[in-house]
Amino acid sequence: MTTFLRLEDQALVGRRVLIRADLNVPVDAEGRISDDTRIVASLAAMRLALDGGASVLVTSHFGRPREGALTAADSLAPIARRLSELLGRPVPLITDWLEETPRVHPGEIVLLENCRGNVGEKANDPALAQRIARLCDIYVNDAFGAAHRAEATTHAIAGFAPVACAGPLMAAELDALNRAFAAPRRPLVAIVGGSKVSTKLSILRSLAERVDRLIVGGGIANTFLLAAGHPIGKSLAEPDLVPEAREIMAIMAARGASVPLPLDVLVADRFAADAPATLRPVDSVGDDEMIFDVGPQTSRLLASVLQESATIVWNGPLGVFEFANFAAGTEALATAIVNSPAFSVAGGGDTLAAISQFGVSERIGYISTGGGAFLEFLEGRTLPAVAALEAAAQAHHQIKEPVACH
Ligand code: 3PG
Repeated sequence: MTTFLRLEDQALVGRRVLIRADLNVPVDAEGRISDDTRIVASLAAMRLALDGGASVLVTSHFGRPREGALTAADSLAPIARRLSELLGRPVPLITDWLEETPRVHPGEIVLLENCRGNVGEKANDPALAQRIARLCDIYVNDAFGAAHRAEATTHAIAGFAPVACAGPLMAAELDALNRAFAAPRRPLVAIVGGSKVSTKLSILRSLAERVDRLIVGGGIANTFLLAAGHPIGKSLAEPDLVPEAREIMAIMAARGASVPLPLDVLVADRFAADAPATLRPVDSVGDDEMIFDVGPQTSRLLASVLQESATIVWNGPLGVFEFANFAAGTEALATAIVNSPAFSVAGGGDTLAAISQFGVSERIGYISTGGGAFLEFLEGRTLPAVAALEAAAQAHHQIKEPVACH
């Protein structure tokens, strides 16, 4: 179980608080923010620090710029503007913040230009981390989306800052994910969709050991159907990973768990938004057909699995939900998740798009802001940024509560 210090437990008045947020949001060709979810999710930490009377510095990466060579396109300027609108106060963007220490009064907030512009950030350089740590009394890691990265502002800094704690977003993410995995209420059901088994193999393997039902979707499901001996025509699949799929099903079966496979599917002969969908029993897919969604019988089966579950973790759609003709399976899944009494956690780019398309955001138990970080958590990996916060908390407790000598 994760044990870290939390921002809400810190005395903040007059303190210099440095918040590492993940403000890495998508922008369009004109530099306009197309989805500000991560910015909105990061406001709580900033408000907490401001309301507590701290001087607030916020740092984040944006994209993957070359260190020491930031261009205009790498700038956090659009994010500073959006933050200012959302907080209803000025949020100046500070460049060259390592050269000249930013002056911030209590109750004020500034945004530090892209931290990936600093040489040594990606390499988790201790000297850089120490320089950055000198800017603060309290370091707050609220960047769950970057928690799988060991970089100077996500990892090494925690070893140098006087106090290193988790912000409310980081804490909420970890609380939700631990609720789903550390001691979940069972049955625990995981849904893993997506095009390729190969990109999610380690997640599937890890989940096979932990969950009671593993629902697979998309190209991943096609490979499992192949492994179970069903014809899949020209569907997207990875025949060389059939042995892996069989092994996963065997591991699950040996534990009394299972992979409920589709009973019926929607097929078409071309990948196009206007391709008509044809319903087929899973054993009757033609040689020239491609599976693009599950059918209604499968949706009913999955709904009953989800209705009986107590915890649901969702990553990835069941079908090509971007095409109206092949959206029904993923929509039925989303509906079944929110109608189930289970606690649900969802994450990943496609999943978030599906949740928003089907209007179920409000009824999912927790929606993660993490992409890669969410997936690495599902894999059962230790997130380096979380490990750094835990180590800092342990060091903090040892100093504060020395072991009594008798
Ligand atoms: C993300 O968008 O997943 C995070 O912000 C991490 O970004 P990165 O993959 O560039 O480290």
